[in-house]
Formats: sequence, C-alpha cells, structure tokens
Amino acid sequence: MLPKEGNNVMQKEIYLTGITTTGTPHIGNYVGAIGPGVQASKDKSKDNFYFLADLHALAKAGDPERITRSTLEIAAAWLALGLDIDNAYFYRQSDIHEISELTWILTSMTSKGLMNRAHSYKAQVQNNIESNAKDQDKGINMALYSYPILMAADILMFKSTHVPVGRDQKQHIEMTRDIAQRFNHNYGDILVIPEAVISEETATLSGLDGRKMSKSYDNVIPLFVDEKKLKKLIMKVKTNSLEPGEKKDKDDSILFDIFQAFSSKEETKNIEKLYEQGIAWGEMKKILFECINDQLKPAREKYQILINNPKEIENELISGAKRAREISIPYMEQIRSAVGIRKLC
Ligand code: TRP
Repeated sequence: MLPKEGNNVMQKEIYLTGITTTGTPHIGNYVGAIGPGVQASKDKSKDNFYFLADLHALAKAGDPERITRSTLEIAAAWLALGLDIDNAYFYRQSDIHEISELTWILTSMTSKGLMNRAHSYKAQVQNNIESNAKDQDKGINMALYSYPILMAADILMFKSTHVPVGRDQKQHIEMTRDIAQRFNHNYGDILVIPEAVISEETATLSGLDGRKMSKSYDNVIPLFVDEKKLKKLIMKVKTNSLEPGEKKDKDDSILFDIFQAFSSKEETKNIEKLYEQGIAWGEMKKILFECINDQLKPAREKYQILINNPKEIENELISGAKRAREISIPYMEQIRSAVGIRKLC
C-alpha cells in the first residue's frame, strides 16, 4: 500500500546547520559542524541545509567589517572542504527574507517567560549580578534576548526534522519545539517539530587552554592558518609537567582530545599506547601537528584561492538563496495566511 501524503514514513529527513558569522572559522567548527556537514552533504537520501547566520552575528558583534569578513571566510571554508552544493542548500541567512518575517510571527506567540529561561541570557544576567552592575540587564540587547526565536525561524522555515548541534545549543532546539507546538496548537498542523542531533564524540572540542574552543575565550586554532603558525599554536596547547617516560593520562590531555577528533579509532588506540609508554609532550605535539596538517593541507590551498575570489563565493550564495527561497516563499505564504495576514478578497 502506498503511504498517504502527510504520512511521515516516506518523508525525507531534513538536516539543517548554521554557523554564526562572528569570526574566523576554527578547528572546533571543523570537527563539530563543518566536517560532519560536508560528509552529510553527499548523502542523497537526505535534504541538507547549510547557512551563514549573519543575522545572529548582529546580535553579538558590533563591527560590520568583521561580520562581512567572517561571512566570506566561513563560506570559503565550507566550499574548500568540499561541500556538495549541488546536493545541498547553501545560503546566507539574511538573503532569505522570509526568515525575518517568520521571526516576527513567532515572536508574537512566544511567551516572554520562555525567553527568560534561556541559558545564554541567564548567564549574562548572572555576570552582571556578580560584577555588581546597577542594571542586571546591562549590555543585553533585544536581539540577544530573543536569539532563540530567530534560531527557531531558521529551523522551522525549511521544515527541518534534524538539527545537529553542540550540547550548548540543545536548549535552543527545545525552545524551537515549544514555539512550533504552540503555533500548531493555535493555527493547525503547519510547522514541523524538529529534533536535536547531538554527537557525543564531536560535540565540543577543547581549546588551547582546555576550556571549550570558542571565539569568546580567545583560545582557538584557526582552521586555515599557514603551517608555521599552526605548528606554533599547537606548541602552545596546555600540558602538565610530566617528564618523558612518565605515563600520561589520556583523559586529562587536551592534545589527546584534539587528536581524537581528527583521527580514526585505530589511530587513537595507537596514541593511547604511546601515552601508556610515557610519550614526551613535545613528541605528541609533533604528531598532532602532522595529523592536522595532513588533513587540512589540500583544503587550505583551495581556501586561499576562494578567499581571493569573493565574487565566486557571492555567486554561490546568491544561487543558493534563490533555490532555498523556492521553498520559503510559498511556505511563508501559507504561514502568513494561517495567522490572518491575507488578501482581503
Ligand atoms: N546559534 C548557533 C550557534 O551559535 C548558530 C545557529 C543559528 C544555528 N541558527 C541555527 C544552528 C539553526 C543550528 C540551527 O552555534
């Protein structure tokens, strides 16, 4: 028997991934999002959406040049690493005007209380309280406050079923589900309820100092620095003071964490043995450098060419947005009509 329309059984899975354009892509973005995303883009059994979250960047960064530069760099990184753009949707968030419109519609039906509970907002308030600021909302703009609603619009606009994210973003997906459920309750079954996909291995990567690799901690290894700089940064990764020959603990080693993210299970097993045998930290750094460098070298060359050809990237983004809007424009029409924004006759 053929499945009926609307029956989930035959529906294609739709994956969606966004990266905020606030900085230079780093190896944490690579192992967490770009690497797995590029692999997934080749899978014809799924629909894949990849976008540059420049509207999200506005909530965080005040510097226009930085947002533009970051958009160029992150787009070039996706392309250099081999994103299959014929099989995937690749676009800049701000080119999809329907996302902004959907954000407002969703904002109108999201309770303030839900946003009050967002971890990232609460963390900022907590910072202000701890530093005895007069206003506990100091430095918090409305975009930051309602950031999860814009993210919900990104996800819901393309009927995403699966959203691969780091653990720190899980709450945002839960909020998206809440918002979509409320919408559907009021207006009918229009939005698709997505789920978060959190990969245990690649969820987060440690930075130079052992905290999560993040632009905000200034502890990142940029993805496409030249060889010399890459070597230098790896030399800076924090280790303990154990001497060569002394057994090392893999569970307490940033070098090991990073190596593992770049390697097969078998390669990782070999390194575990070397840790048992007391490999010198200097030696381990050399191994890590070679491992990362070998993997990134071919893409690094492509990246350099692309970065010097912004026109080519711009064209890709424009045609990506055009394809994506073939979905978002009619869907937005349906959503608008459901909430009462309609032609009079
Ligand atoms: N908020 C995400 C981050 O900072 C980026 C992002 C924006 C995103 N919109 C998204 C991720 C939609 C997944 C789906 O990492």
